[in-house]
Amino acid sequence: MASFQDGLPDLTACGPATSAGPRVYIETYGCQMNVYDSQAIGGLLGRDGFASAAREDEADVVLLNTCSVRDHAEHKILSRVGEIRADRRARGLAQPVIGICGCMAERLGDELRKGGQAVDLVVGVDNYDTLPGLLRGLTDPDPAGPAAGGRTVTGHRDDQHYVAPPELYPVNNSHLVTIHKGCDYKCTYCIVPMTRGPQREKHPDTILDEIAGIVAAGGREVTLLGQNVTAWRWGADLDFAALLDLVAGIDGLERIRFLTGHPRDMHRHTMATIARLGKVCPWLHVPAQSGSDRVLRRMKRLYTRAEYLAMVDHARAVIPDVTFSSDFIVGFPGETEKDFQQTLEVVRYVKYDQIFSFKYSERPGVPAARLADDVPTPEKKRRLAELMAVQDEVWQGVASACLGQSWQGVVESAARRPAGAVRVRTASNRKVVVQGTGLEIGQHVGVRVTGFRNTTFTGERLA
Ligand code: SAH
Ligand code: SF4
Ligand code: F3S
Repeated sequence: MASFQDGLPDLTACGPATSAGPRVYIETYGCQMNVYDSQAIGGLLGRDGFASAAREDEADVVLLNTCSVRDHAEHKILSRVGEIRADRRARGLAQPVIGICGCMAERLGDELRKGGQAVDLVVGVDNYDTLPGLLRGLTDPDPAGPAAGGRTVTGHRDDQHYVAPPELYPVNNSHLVTIHKGCDYKCTYCIVPMTRGPQREKHPDTILDEIAGIVAAGGREVTLLGQNVTAWRWGADLDFAALLDLVAGIDGLERIRFLTGHPRDMHRHTMATIARLGKVCPWLHVPAQSGSDRVLRRMKRLYTRAEYLAMVDHARAVIPDVTFSSDFIVGFPGETEKDFQQTLEVVRYVKYDQIFSFKYSERPGVPAARLADDVPTPEKKRRLAELMAVQDEVWQGVASACLGQSWQGVVESAARRPAGAVRVRTASNRKVVVQGTGLEIGQHVGVRVTGFRNTTFTGERLA
C-alpha cells in the first residue's frame, strides 16, 4: 500500500515519557496497516505501564514493525537491526531488547532469532496482545519477575481486532481506522495473503464505536483502511457502501477516505454512494498494476484493462471532482515491451494524480515464484524510469490545468517549508501549501492555486 501520509506527525506513542516503565521506541515500515498497528501496539503497551522513548537510542525496547512486500524492504530491516546493535556497541550503551513485528515476523518467524542479526522477540500481526507480557519478561531486572516464556509468537487468529486508542488523537487530521485484516485475493506476485492471512472483518459496531471515539476526542476525518476495503462485508446486507452510509451518519465526522479499493470491487452502487454522501472524499486509490490483459491474467487481478477503464470512466461520470491514484508493477515475469507500452497507455488515459510504481520482486512461496523472473534488472529499471517519466509528463498537464482554480480544503499540518506555511488537503486529496498566519489545524480554508512542485501545489488563501 502506498504512503499518503508523508509529513504528518507520527502518532505511535506508548505511555507518557515520564512513566517509570521500560521505554519503548516503535519504528514503522510498510503500509498504513502497519502504521495503524503501531498505534495499537503503542496503546497496548502504554496501558501496561510502558513509556515512550523519544529516540531509538534512548529506548530499552526497540520494536520494528516490518514489511515483506518486496525483497528490498526485508533487507532494509535486517541491516537496521545490525545498525542499532553496532551503534550501541560503538557508543558503549546497553543493548536494547529488539523485537520484530509485522509481516516479516509472520513470514520468517523463528528464523529471525538465529544467526548474526538475531533479535530477541518476534511477534506476528495477530498476536500483539502478547507483547506486554513478553516484554515484561524480557525487561524485568528482578530475577524473580515474570518468566520470559516463548519469544516467537506468530500464526493467524480470528479473535483479535486491534484498535488504535482514540486517546492518541487528535494530533493530525486523518485518523486511520482498519476495518478488516488480511486479504482473500491471490494476486500471484503478492506475499500479503501469506503474511496477513485471510480477510476477516472488524465488527461494524466496533468500527462505529472507534470512529465515535475519534470524533469525541476532536478528530474530524477518518481513513478506512484495509488491503481491500471495497470488499468489506458483514452478513448478507451490509457491504462497504452500506458501511459508508453508517459511518457518514456519525455526527461531527466531516470527511471519510478509504484505502485500498480493489478495482474489481469498485461497484457502481459504491460509486453512487460516494457521490451521494458529501462526507466521502472523491479520491479513489485503485491500483491497476498493469495495462496489459495478458499480464493482468497472469497476475490474477480478476479484471481486464477494458473493465478497469470502464470503472474509471463511470467514476468520472458520477463522482464530481474525482481523482485517481494507482500502483503499478513493471517487469512482471513474461512482461514484454508491448505489455509495458499498454501500461503507459493506461497511465496516459486515466491521468492519475499520483502513481506508486515498483520493479517486480520475486517473493518466496507466492504463485508467481514458479514463473521465471525473466525481465533483466536493467530492463526493469528502464521501464520503471520510463513509467515515472510518463506519469510526470501527464501530471504536468493535469496540474497546469489547475492553476488559478479555487479549492476548498482543510489545514492538516504545518508545512516543512516555507516557515509559517501550512499544508492544506482538499477532499480530492490534493495538497496545497499556503502561507497561513493564524491558520489552525482542522480549519476549513479556501485557496487559489498559484503553482505546483511535484504533487504539491502552492496557493494563496482566499479572502
Ligand atoms: N492490497 C493492495 C496493495 C497491496 S501491496 C492492492 O491490491 O492494490 C502494495 C503494492 O505493492 C501493490 O499494489 C503492488 O503494486 C506492490 N507489490 C506487491 N507485491 C509486489 C512484488 N512482489 N513486487 C513488486 N511490487 C509488489
Ligand atoms: Fe496482495 Fe492482491 Fe491482496 Fe492486494 S488484493 S493485498 S495485491 S493479494
Ligand atoms: Fe503492508 Fe508490507 Fe505487510 S505492504 S501488509 S506491511 S507486506
